[in-house]
Amino acid sequence: MNKKSLNILVTGGAGFIGSHVVMGLVTKYPNYNIFNLDALTYAGNLENLKSIQDYPNYTFIKGNILDESFINNLFEKYEFDGVIHLAAESHVDRSITDPLAFVKTNIIGTVNLLNAAKNYWKNDFSEKRFYHVSTDEVYGSLGKTGLFTEETPYDPNSPYSASKASSDHFVRAYGETYGLPYVISNCSNNYGPNHFPEKLIPLFINNIIQEKSLPVYGDGNYTRDWLFVEDHAVAIDLVFHEGKNTETYNIGGFNEWKNIDLVKLLCKLMDVKLNRVNGSSEKLITYVKDRPGHDLRYAIDASKINKNLGWKPSVTFEEGLAKTIDWYLQNEEWLSNVTSGNYQEYYKKMYT
Ligand code: NAD
Ligand code: TYD
Repeated sequence: MNKKSLNILVTGGAGFIGSHVVMGLVTKYPNYNIFNLDALTYAGNLENLKSIQDYPNYTFIKGNILDESFINNLFEKYEFDGVIHLAAESHVDRSITDPLAFVKTNIIGTVNLLNAAKNYWKNDFSEKRFYHVSTDEVYGSLGKTGLFTEETPYDPNSPYSASKASSDHFVRAYGETYGLPYVISNCSNNYGPNHFPEKLIPLFINNIIQEKSLPVYGDGNYTRDWLFVEDHAVAIDLVFHEGKNTETYNIGGFNEWKNIDLVKLLCKLMDVKLNRVNGSSEKLITYVKDRPGHDLRYAIDASKINKNLGWKPSVTFEEGLAKTIDWYLQNEEWLSNVTSGNYQEYYKKMYT
C-alpha cells in the first residue's frame, strides 16, 4: 500500500489487540484517516483508546459487522482504501459454551465485510487491501516438537479456531474468486495492557492482586508461544503496508512457555511488585478440571515475516511481562470497571 493518504477501516479497534493497532496507526500516520468500527461487546472498551480519542485523524463508529446494510453504507460514506479486520469473538472457553456467537461474528461478520469491500471496490482493486487478522489456533495442536509454518495444514479443534479457520478460508476464496486483494496473518498468544481478564495472563494478574485462587487447567503442561501485544501491532502495520497480496504471514514470539512455568514466574514477579513474601502467590495455584479439546502446544515459526519484512519481537518476555504487570497495577480503575457487572456472572459460571 502506498503511504500517501489512506482511509483505513479497523474493525474491533476497542478490543485488546485492536486498540494497540489503532493507537499505533493514528499516532504514526497523521495523514491517514483511521475509522475504528466496534460493537463494544463485553471485550470492547473505549477507555483503551483515551490517549488518541481527540486526534483529528481518528473516528470511532459504534456498529456491528453483522449489520449488512450498515457496513455497506460505511464503505459508501467513508470510501475506505483498506480494511484491517480484527473484530471477533476471541475466547476459546466462551466458544465452548456458545459456539453460535462465534459462527455469527467470526464467519458471517467477516463475509459481510468481504462483500462490502468487493462491491465497493469492484471496478478498481488497485491500491486496495483487505487484511484479515487471524490466529495460529487454526493449525490445531502441535505435539512435543515442531513449529507452525505458513504451509501447515489447517486442523482446528475448538469452535473458536474452527470459526477463525472458516473466516480465513472465506478471505482466500474471495481472493481466488473475485480477485479481492488480501493478506492474512496468523499470530500466537498475545499479552500486554488492555487485555480483558478472562485470558490466562490478565486473569491471573487480577486474581493474584485479589489473592484469589489461580485455576490451572488439567496438569498445567500445555504450551503457548507468547508475544507482547505492541510487537504484534507493529507487525500488523508492516504486513498491511509491505505484505504481498494473497500471502499469509505467521507472527510469533519464539517464546514458548508451559502454562505452569509461566504461572510460577508470574507469581514470583507479582510477589516482588506487591511486596509480598516470596512464595505467597504460588500458594494460590489450584489445578482444576481441564478444558475440553484442550490443544497441547502452539508454537510459531516466524522466519518468513522476519526474512521478508524484517520484523522481530522488540521486547523479551521478562520485559514484556514486567511492563504488563506494572500496567495492571497502575490501572486499578480500568480493572475494576471491566470486572464489575457481567464479569462476576461469567466468573461464577466458569470457575465455581
Ligand atoms: P478482543 O476480544 O479483545 O476484541 C475483539 C473486539 O471486537 C472487541 O472490541 C469487540 O467489541 C469487537 N467485536 C466483537 N464482535 C463484534 C461485532 N460483531 N461487530 C463489531 N465488533 C465486534 O480480541 P483480541 O484478543 O484483541 O483479538 C483481536 C483479533 O486478533 C481477533 O480476530 C483474534 O482472533 C485475533 N488474535 C488474537 C490473539 C490473542 O492472543 N488475543 C492472537 C492471535 C490472533
Ligand atoms: P487462553 O489465555 O484462554 O488462550 P488460548 O486458549 O487461546 O491459548 O489460555 C492460555 C492457556 O492457559 C491455555 O492452555 C488454557 C490455560 N488456562 C488455564 O489453565 N486457566 C485459565 O483459567 C485460563 C483462562 C486458561
